[in-house]
Amino acid sequence: MDGEKDWWALVGGRSRVGRRLAEILAPRHNLLLTSARPWAGEEAWLEGLSTGLRTCCWDAEAPEIGPTMMADLDTLGPGLPKFASAVVVAGDFAVQPFGVWEAAGLERLWRINLSFPMLAAQALAPRLEAGGSLQFLLDAAIHRPFPSRLPYTASKAALAALVPGLAKALAPDLRVVGHAPGTVLVAPGEDEAALARATPLGRVGSVEDLARALEYAAASPYLTGEVLTLDGGWHLGL
Ligand SMILES: NC(=O)c1ccc[n+]([C@@H]2O[C@H](COP(=O)([O-])OP(=O)(O)OC[C@H]3O[C@@H](n4cnc5c(N)ncnc54)[C@H](OP(=O)(O)O)[C@@H]3O)[C@@H](O)[C@H]2O)c1
Repeated sequence: MDGEKDWWALVGGRSRVGRRLAEILAPRHNLLLTSARPWAGEEAWLEGLSTGLRTCCWDAEAPEIGPTMMADLDTLGPGLPKFASAVVVAGDFAVQPFGVWEAAGLERLWRINLSFPMLAAQALAPRLEAGGSLQFLLDAAIHRPFPSRLPYTASKAALAALVPGLAKALAPDLRVVGHAPGTVLVAPGEDEAALARATPLGRVGSVEDLARALEYAAASPYLTGEVLTLDGGWHLGL
């Protein structure tokens, strides 16, 4: 543990956006990283982060995930200062076109994109320091729905609706902020050039853009209950 650094939690800090966020944040923060899968095989990458680290395996589809989160944090608790910020990154970017929706697929999406972030918030809030921030990764699609991912869009809009209510519930000690990014890491099969052309600023974003917003929100004691949209103007259309 680097005593000079504060502690951040990244729920979903192992792959793609979460992984890149861990790499960007590690020079300034000690990190608790969670993944849905066991961390075996990631030793070298974790070592390479060169910061204070703890890891947990939190799978949204595990039956007792809520109590598991609480128990893991209780176990870590004594050796761990309170978190300055906890970021819920995890979320499934599922393609589910209207007409082929089925209960199991929708319920799985709600579990990963809604129940899991809410349970993580409930488990982490008591372990945030005074003035600390709970941050949720949403999507700019809450303003401009993805036609082939309407359930995904709805799940993020529901999580966005949680932000003001949770902010009031946790004030004055804690703050709650949502982030609605546009594309910050192109998904496999997506056309980056086309996404850039569809954005007034003429480019897709980067995880660095997102990390800047997360650190701004964590460092802004007068900010709570807001959703910050970070998408180069994409949701405005051209
Ligand atoms: N990529 C973008 O440009 C972009 C834009 C806007 C919003 N976002 C949001 O940013 C977040 C990360 O995006 P991404 O592109 O990295 O997503 P991704 O590649 O689809 O990765 C999915 C993320 O969700 C976690 N996850 C999946 N199933 C899980 C489960 N059963 N239990 C717990 N965690 C589970 C994964 O954790 P493991 O790796 O541990 O499995 C991983 O962190 C998502 O919430 C997404 O909606 C991304």
